[in-house]
Amino acid sequence: MNTQIYIDAIENELEKCCDEFFYDDSRVAAAARYSLLKSGKRIRAVLMFLTADMCGGHWQDKLRLASGVEMVHCYSLIHDDLPCMDNDDLRRGKPSCHKAFGEATALLAGDALLGCGLEAVANDTALSDIAKIEAMKAFTRAMGPKGMIYGQELDLEYEDKKADKIVLDTIHRHKTGKMISLSGYLGSLDCDLNEEQKRAIRVFFNDIGLVFQIVDDILDVEGNVEELGKPIGSDADNNKSTFVSLYGLENSKSIAAEMTQEADNTLLKAFGDKAVPLVEYTSYLLNRKK
Ligand code: IPE
Ligand code: IPE
Ligand code: MG
Ligand code: MG
Ligand code: MG
Repeated sequence: MNTQIYIDAIENELEKCCDEFFYDDSRVAAAARYSLLKSGKRIRAVLMFLTADMCGGHWQDKLRLASGVEMVHCYSLIHDDLPCMDNDDLRRGKPSCHKAFGEATALLAGDALLGCGLEAVANDTALSDIAKIEAMKAFTRAMGPKGMIYGQELDLEYEDKKADKIVLDTIHRHKTGKMISLSGYLGSLDCDLNEEQKRAIRVFFNDIGLVFQIVDDILDVEGNVEELGKPIGSDADNNKSTFVSLYGLENSKSIAAEMTQEADNTLLKAFGDKAVPLVEYTSYLLNRKK
């Protein structure tokens, strides 16, 4: 399926956000723009747009929300690459933010994007005030200490000890799954859904989020650095607990494929043909090389 129209739209919206939220002559702004703009697959934005379409909403109404999620996601990547975390020098096909701008500026650029992500939601004119509060609550929960941050906390803790299956599931569902689930939830916000449909969206995104990180673990082993745009073997270098280290490469692939199939079925059952574009997109996510 062709998602270029969504990607062009989110790129444009992110440019607008940067123009609004940053001073022109700031080095932190330059670092944030360097990491954020014209880069990344924008899968969280695309998932949000496809969900809005599926739920009878208008994807264009989600541009600010999607920008917020992409900015917060980018902050998490900048910090994730820092020497005190994964210590990776390559991101999105170019030197990581701290390699290009120094650690202190990269730290602040990440902080800035976190704030901007929330500002984007707060200023979103497409949302009613009630929906805005709902969005803000979901947003801060997903990125916070019971969300992405908790996953990153455990990810670091389990560099020096072996995670069992339950712990690894918890790590991945938090560090990556929470922000992906958030994208699905925000995509469906303000749409008229029955209970089965709401539940299907929760289950689908929970599992697709986990699958996304399983594939990330696989690509860290057998990806191609030019295509992936980030280092290969970073997880092994850091002694990380990953799906590949716990289950092996082939089993990890089978688990990812089975979970995708189940997630697709749940969505198709609740939404019928309307779920087809999202289901097609999960097949791209499963088979991606970058
Ligand atoms: C990378 O996310 C970090 C994870 C949560 C696995 P993406 O693979 O979506 O990275 P970009 O945004 O395309 O660079
Ligand atoms: C990071 O997971 C998840 C985040 C919250 C950024 P990874 O550390 O595996 O992500 P990459 O491989 O560096 O993109
Ligand atoms: Mg990491
Ligand atoms: Mg990393
Ligand atoms: Mg990784």
